[in-house]
Amino acid sequence: MDAQKHVTNFGAGPAKLPHSVLLEAQKELLDYKGLGISVLEMSHRTSDFSKIIRTAENLLRELLNIPDNYKVIFLQGGGSGQFSAVPLNLIGLKEARIADYVVTGGWSAKAAKEAEKYAKVNLVHPKLSSYTKVPDPSAWNLNPDASYVYYCANETVHGVEFDFVPDVGKAVLVCDMSSNFLSRPVDVSKFGVIFAGAQKNIGTAGVTAVIVREDLLGFTLKECPIALDYKTQSENASLYNTPPCFSVYIMGLVLEWIKNNGGVVAMDKLSQTKSQMIYDIIDNSNGFYVCPVERKNRSRMNVPFRIGSIKGDEALEKKFLDKAVEYNMISLKGHRSVGGIRASLYNALTIEDVQKLSAHMKSFMEMHQS
Ligand SMILES: Cc1ncc(COP(=O)(O)O)c(C=O)c1O
Repeated sequence: MDAQKHVTNFGAGPAKLPHSVLLEAQKELLDYKGLGISVLEMSHRTSDFSKIIRTAENLLRELLNIPDNYKVIFLQGGGSGQFSAVPLNLIGLKEARIADYVVTGGWSAKAAKEAEKYAKVNLVHPKLSSYTKVPDPSAWNLNPDASYVYYCANETVHGVEFDFVPDVGKAVLVCDMSSNFLSRPVDVSKFGVIFAGAQKNIGTAGVTAVIVREDLLGFTLKECPIALDYKTQSENASLYNTPPCFSVYIMGLVLEWIKNNGGVVAMDKLSQTKSQMIYDIIDNSNGFYVCPVERKNRSRMNVPFRIGSIKGDEALEKKFLDKAVEYNMISLKGHRSVGGIRASLYNALTIEDVQKLSAHMKSFMEMHQS
């Protein structure tokens, strides 16, 4: 058999997993720890699966230093499921049924639209003409009667990342951390709810981690699908119904890998280094590469850029992508709604992976800059 070709995956999610995690999963696939069956075949009601899911929860608690008054639950339905679950579980906190949304990109826009089904949505700042920054919070118009304030910490499509946690006083802060979860330390006590789909930084598709403050449980609308009810799921330790067992298992392996590689502090450092390598090339390219995002809100996770000009020279961009594939670098195409290039640099991406992209960017520029 030919040796496996070494492909570097810059995909936005599902994304690269640490190689050691894949090897471990491969080793255990046919016979999980001598049980004679695969995790894929294991009942979620067994003590063995219980150990898998509790280990994942404990690792997450340890990595993020989650206070005891927070529940951790693992749900299906992805990030989009949480766009519905958040209002369904929290809008009942206040009678007015208002929710504040900070819309800084495509994902928070989708969340706000979904919330309109259940809530009166207050957009806290005027609609942005382009998603290239986080508007100054001093100009946000928060509604004191809102049940919660919602934002997305990292806009995966537009490459806009918050460089701060909004100070919303006593209001309940909700955050979609799907694409920068466990890439930096977070003070969980500032939040009412944090959620994150696993398929970018902590595993594979199918499981969504939800961290919810205990006192916010029990306000769920009766229309809420039971599988998305935070209270029911936390009372049943995420086992009210069948969880995505294999995804939970993979997430556990990734969390262990993060712990063994220095935890979130090390992931933060690594993310700074990796993203700076790409932004430096962009900034020193005399406009050959252009990142439209304001510097202080540039994402460490998803680096979007155009080639040739801020609007992008599509023929040149296609050439760049084709050449990247020749060098075994895949999934660098920008999201279909914005075009251009997007390099996603999640935790599993190594410095060597990013060096490969840097080398391609430099030589492509030398060849094509007029
Ligand atoms: C920040 C963010 N939130 C939510 C989602 C939606 O997640 P899902 O596709 O799991 O529904 C994504 C998907 O890429 C995302 O990047």
